[in-house]
Amino acid sequence: MSEETAPYGSGAAAASSAPVRKVRTHHLREMKERGEPITMLTAYDMYTAATFDEAGIDLLLVGDSASNNVLGNETSLPITVDELIPLTRAVSRSAKRAMVVGDLPFGSYQASPEQGYLTAVRFMKEGGAHCVKLEGGAEMAPVITKCAQGGIPVMAHIGFTPQSEHALGGYRVQGRGETAERLLADARAVQEAGAFAVVMEMVPADVAAQVSAELHIPTIGIGAGNGCDGQVLVWQDAFGLRTGKMARFVKQYADLHSVLLEGAKAYKDDVKARTFPADEHSF
Ligand code: KIV
Repeated sequence: MSEETAPYGSGAAAASSAPVRKVRTHHLREMKERGEPITMLTAYDMYTAATFDEAGIDLLLVGDSASNNVLGNETSLPITVDELIPLTRAVSRSAKRAMVVGDLPFGSYQASPEQGYLTAVRFMKEGGAHCVKLEGGAEMAPVITKCAQGGIPVMAHIGFTPQSEHALGGYRVQGRGETAERLLADARAVQEAGAFAVVMEMVPADVAAQVSAELHIPTIGIGAGNGCDGQVLVWQDAFGLRTGKMARFVKQYADLHSVLLEGAKAYKDDVKARTFPADEHSF
């Protein structure tokens, strides 16, 4: 393709075309069995998806956290199925190896197993997701079973569940003290219902390690210590695109905010000084 006709960005199509072995649910189970940690990051667009996939991240979560990390909302509550599906499609089109997890947003599955199944079908058909994630423990067992029986792998999410922020009284560690038993019961219930994996958010490390040891399905932790079978972070937190106060469980691996800020300022200065575009950028 000539320089003149190259489209803006060539994205996923530019990456290598060598055949790759897609991550499947049984690979995750095998990783747990051999003690190999599972990696998951959120992704909401083609370039982050392709980059994280190239890095060898096993699972890409198109989280409802897009609500407060992409769409500018304060919480994950307002995002809709119609808003999340195009993001899911962008990620699933761009990932060659990683398993893509579509996150069912608040209100799209809690009403009944049928509602949950039909929403999950949209994520698989329209979004190209390979599985879905939903929040809740024992009370969500019928929804998990309905999806699993209908051929949709479900990742459960227990502990602190952001969609229930108001019911839980804010961002608080779950499963401390005597509530540890309830967390264990939720973990057992979602496994029994047919979930292939379970996210545990903001759970004491010893409780999460106990759950991980007891379950045969993989556990993915976020703020749940090092005894989980895998870890997940929201990428804007992990790579420093978001600024401000971070949760204790976030480790920052890059400072993208500074990189972008410096780049934007340099561009602004060049345009103001008429040093961009130079002759080599002009026809
Ligand atoms: O939506 C999301 O990003 C999540 C992670 C915090 C696990 O659910």
